Amino acid sequence: MADHAPVSPGDPQAKFPLGATVTLEQLEHNPHPILARLRADEPVSWIPALDGWLVTRHDLAVAVMRDSRAFTVDDPRFSTAQVVGPSMLSLEGELHARHRAPFAAPFRPRSVSERFAEAAATDAERLIDGFAAAGTAELRRAFAGPLAASIMAGTLGLEQGEVPDMLTWYDGIVAAVTEITAGGELPARGREAFAALGNRLQATMADESSLLGAAAADSDLSEPQIVSNAAILLFGGIETTEGMIANALVHLLENPDAIDPARHESKVLDDVIEESLRLEPAAAVVDRYATTDANLAQASVKRGDLVRVSITAANRDPAVFAEPDAFDPARPRPRSHLAFAQGPHVCLGVHLARLEARTGLATLLDRLPNLRPDPDRPARIKGLVFRKPPVLQAKWDPP
Ligand code: HEM
Repeated sequence: MADHAPVSPGDPQAKFPLGATVTLEQLEHNPHPILARLRADEPVSWIPALDGWLVTRHDLAVAVMRDSRAFTVDDPRFSTAQVVGPSMLSLEGELHARHRAPFAAPFRPRSVSERFAEAAATDAERLIDGFAAAGTAELRRAFAGPLAASIMAGTLGLEQGEVPDMLTWYDGIVAAVTEITAGGELPARGREAFAALGNRLQATMADESSLLGAAAADSDLSEPQIVSNAAILLFGGIETTEGMIANALVHLLENPDAIDPARHESKVLDDVIEESLRLEPAAAVVDRYATTDANLAQASVKRGDLVRVSITAANRDPAVFAEPDAFDPARPRPRSHLAFAQGPHVCLGVHLARLEARTGLATLLDRLPNLRPDPDRPARIKGLVFRKPPVLQAKWDPP
């Protein structure tokens, strides 16, 4: 007799034996082998460890993300909305469009470039000034993180000196979302952090030349609704962009032949960034909830089920990318990865994120000759939802 509980015929575990073996540990540390097996054998699989479905094929991932009627973010279990209120990230249909529309213009490529190109270059130079002479640094904490935070402060109309406050509010909001996701109550710290952010943003919204002011002026949203969406910008733009820059650096350090071409040709650097986003998208998954019973590949999804899309898995689908595990910046259509999602919730900050990564990496490569990994402290990308290297120690020849 097996020593585990019997599985009923209608039980998804019976139909998805591979999914039944998946552990959170595996998904967090080395997800690629198991995701490849799932994609081949159970492309929509019931994963008991997630208490939900996991979608791993590229075409199915796109189908789920595009069909917001059947697979919604608008569900009470979506914890971010419980902390910051309804926003573009938690709404669908007309309400979603209403919350997103005011931010569309300020986040278009030209507007992003006019507002942030110079700031990104200045910030990158300033950060590098702080460690260039040392010949070594931990580049996630010393560079990728502070660059993302500094540009986000600019996005919200805050001064450089206010970055620590902004990060405190951010931490408070993230901690509250984590607490609620784990089944707890909204902690006072989360409520206070969100209130403090709102108080500070009042002043910015009054200034129409600021990004938030432009959004507020062009909007029928109330001030609290603008603040909720601004909190989502903060939520969406700090950890992911830090991860995007850090992961691209890891891929460059692991592939030293790519460093010189990327240093000398901006097109190559762009392709390196896209290839890194494909191999290790900083936001590894997006979650949806089924609004209706639906058949997805061999899965009978029930209304209310969690449907988690693995962007990480879709980005290595061999049906779309030849030799999907190889780092190949020269591959055709470098932007066909799903790192910024697709459908109505496609990342609003995509142009700003690319600008930050391109400027940050170009400046690093320019300033740090013979950039190489520290052989004693290899960088490893990890994470279940957000993936990045906890430590990214690098060396170079100091001036
Ligand atoms: C400047 C930096 C960024 C900002 C301001 C930003 C902002 C946003 C916002 C506001 C949304 C919600 C859009 C909506 O629901 O209509 C979003 C969605 C998303 N962003 Fe970004 N983002 C940034 C960087 C990134 C980066 C670097 C990545 C990954 C590499 C990323 C991945 C995503 C994904 C996957 C979604 C879809 C979420 C979902 O559908 O559930 N973002 N972003």
